[in-house]
Amino acid sequence: MPINPIEWENNRIKIIDQTQLPHKLKFLYLDSIEKVKDAICKMKVRGAPALGVAAAFGVVVGVQDSTSRDFNQFKREVEGVCRFLRSSRPTAVNLSWALDRMYRVVVNNAEFSLDKIKQKLAEEALCIMEEDRQCNRAIGEKGASLINDGDTVLTHCNAGVLATAGYGTALSIIYQAKNEGKKVKVYVDETRPLLQGSRLTCWELLREAIEVTLICDSVAGELMREGKINKVVVGADRVVANGDAANKIGTYSLSVLAKENKVAFYVACPLSTIDLSIASGDEIPIEIRSDEEVTTFCGRRCAPEGVDVYNPAFDITPSRYISAIITERGICRAPYEESLRIIFGG
Ligand code: MRU
Repeated sequence: MPINPIEWENNRIKIIDQTQLPHKLKFLYLDSIEKVKDAICKMKVRGAPALGVAAAFGVVVGVQDSTSRDFNQFKREVEGVCRFLRSSRPTAVNLSWALDRMYRVVVNNAEFSLDKIKQKLAEEALCIMEEDRQCNRAIGEKGASLINDGDTVLTHCNAGVLATAGYGTALSIIYQAKNEGKKVKVYVDETRPLLQGSRLTCWELLREAIEVTLICDSVAGELMREGKINKVVVGADRVVANGDAANKIGTYSLSVLAKENKVAFYVACPLSTIDLSIASGDEIPIEIRSDEEVTTFCGRRCAPEGVDVYNPAFDITPSRYISAIITERGICRAPYEESLRIIFGG
């Protein structure tokens, strides 16, 4: 059965609680902005495109019981909801991209009744969700052309169905290659500290009957040196104008290893993950998460009390290490300033 990571059901957001996987497939219903923010911060819903969809529905949830009496009051209320949700996770640009899009619905419909604007907000959130599914499907179709029959692909974190409204980004390419009859084997980095690779990507790939092997993050380099990896395919949380890409911590190291070992390194993402307002990766805000994620393992302490911890959730892969960026509109290659601008129609 296909998995539906995020849905809009009876005026509530229905998500899979990703912190429970792979043990339990448990659904959560979010009917307040506090619950939406909590689910985002605790990574019950995660992955850049899924964060955008959750934030969009968060706005709908946030204003559905609004007591605003006029347009200006309602607009200020929406601004407050957007500010509240925007502060939940800083790196994935899809979150603020979706909130900006929701806010524009309000501003552009000032002549309508508040009930009508609320209805338009719900329609916009549904549209963001549906568009994400279509984009990811197209990423799969475009990206599968880069995968050969018999390839062994390495991926990091989870850029699959669970990280999106459907299909995934990096994994959409694997799914499509399989649909086209190509035999693909996938190595999955476990992705310390929160194990999105082992808990989520392996779970997803096994459900789709893809041949998958789980490795510790530190195994990737040796596999590449032995010539066992043909391609690396990862997702992104934000790609900027010069092609630098923020993605789960550990991605940068993989890209350097790929270059050293002459392995193609692909980033797959929808245009909603591309932020042309930022010139280079140095300007991308990197989320620093709690010490406990590193000092504990599967709920048990694995480091001495009092030790200093540094736990950035993401890193920056400079574009010189990226062989191509695969989007729903096509495949971009260096120089990225130019190819990304063209893909946006500029
Ligand atoms: O911290 P997470 O689990 O939200 O990080 C997710 C990633 O790094 C993904 O690779 C990225 O968001 C792309 S998801 C299609």
